[in-house]
Amino acid sequence: MEIDTLCLHANNMEDKFGSISTPIYQSATFYHNGNDEYSYSRLSNPTRSSVENVVRKLENGKSCNAFSSGMAAITTVLKLFKKCDHIIASNDLYGGAIRLFNNFSKLEGIDFDYVDTSNTSDVVKLINPNTKAIYIETPSNPLMQVTDIAKISEIAKKYNIIVIVDNTFLSPYFQRPLELGADIVIHSGTKYLGGHNDTLSGFVITNSIELGDKITFISKTIGATLSPFDSFLIERGIKTLALRMDRINSNAIKVANFLTTISKIKKVYYVGLKSHKGYEINKKQSSGFGGMISIEVESEELAIKILNNVKIFKYAESLGGVDSLITYPIKQTHADVPENERNARGINDRFLRLSIGIENSIDLINDLRDAIYG
Ligand SMILES: Cc1ncc(COP(=O)(O)O)c(C=O)c1O
Repeated sequence: MEIDTLCLHANNMEDKFGSISTPIYQSATFYHNGNDEYSYSRLSNPTRSSVENVVRKLENGKSCNAFSSGMAAITTVLKLFKKCDHIIASNDLYGGAIRLFNNFSKLEGIDFDYVDTSNTSDVVKLINPNTKAIYIETPSNPLMQVTDIAKISEIAKKYNIIVIVDNTFLSPYFQRPLELGADIVIHSGTKYLGGHNDTLSGFVITNSIELGDKITFISKTIGATLSPFDSFLIERGIKTLALRMDRINSNAIKVANFLTTISKIKKVYYVGLKSHKGYEINKKQSSGFGGMISIEVESEELAIKILNNVKIFKYAESLGGVDSLITYPIKQTHADVPENERNARGINDRFLRLSIGIENSIDLINDLRDAIYG
């Protein structure tokens, strides 16, 4: 089945009334009736199993667990590691992941090295006998660095290191890291999978049952699992994933091209621009470029003016929904990353991140033009 059809028909749940959409099993517990598949909803729930099954198939994985947020998913994955384990992570990641690693995982004795994982030889130099995982986002948030998943995975296998890819930015519609050799895929399902900025969720998909069983064990112990209603909403959102991603992709290409023509915009970070350093690798490993664009404008004043003046874009945290959003990373997603680290990487007071939605691209471009010159 092709992926756009899978978005609708991955689910093979049978319902005795013939319900087309998955029923919401809003029950904390299940009585013993001879069918003991479900016992208690923290462990598993039929509505959650259904969306897990859909996401597992979309990512072509062996197991999938759904969580109450992307951060709950990342926290669960980090529980695979123990004191003295070493993790090599991208130096450009969602700020919440960095906050978790630096403030909690490090206290548990897990060692981190941050590096630009788009430079494979720099990654190899950091591998030591305790290295247990390489953690990447590609494209990364918010600098859009592109990491060669197949190349990193090939090297990691030689050293028995697992590769974890946060695939939030492209979604399985455009990129399937497990098919490229990664071991674990993470999603903030809050973003493209849900697609409507109305529900939080997270997913962990693995390439082996063994790894999946470990995640299930941690998940039921921590307990940050996805509620039945949110499971229903995410599964409903996924039905239109293909349509949304195609529209978002074509909108983003047009918006990014427009932004490159504005002299007040000093840099445009979008993996769909041929001038982007990672363009070829992204093209090799994905079937699209996605809807995330970052820009550096000429001054802090202009950045603030844009945030205050946009009308269709909303100045809000998050990404991946049908509505276009604009984010100020230093005040929002990356506020907890130390200022000197942020500045060193170019995430400064002139830096904005755009999440392109499904509106008409002409309106999006006009909105940005009016915000810049208005
Ligand atoms: C790439 C990425 N991963 C994970 C997360 C965390 O997801 P959530 O907000 O659903 O906890 C985010 C949130 O913005 C993100 O951008």
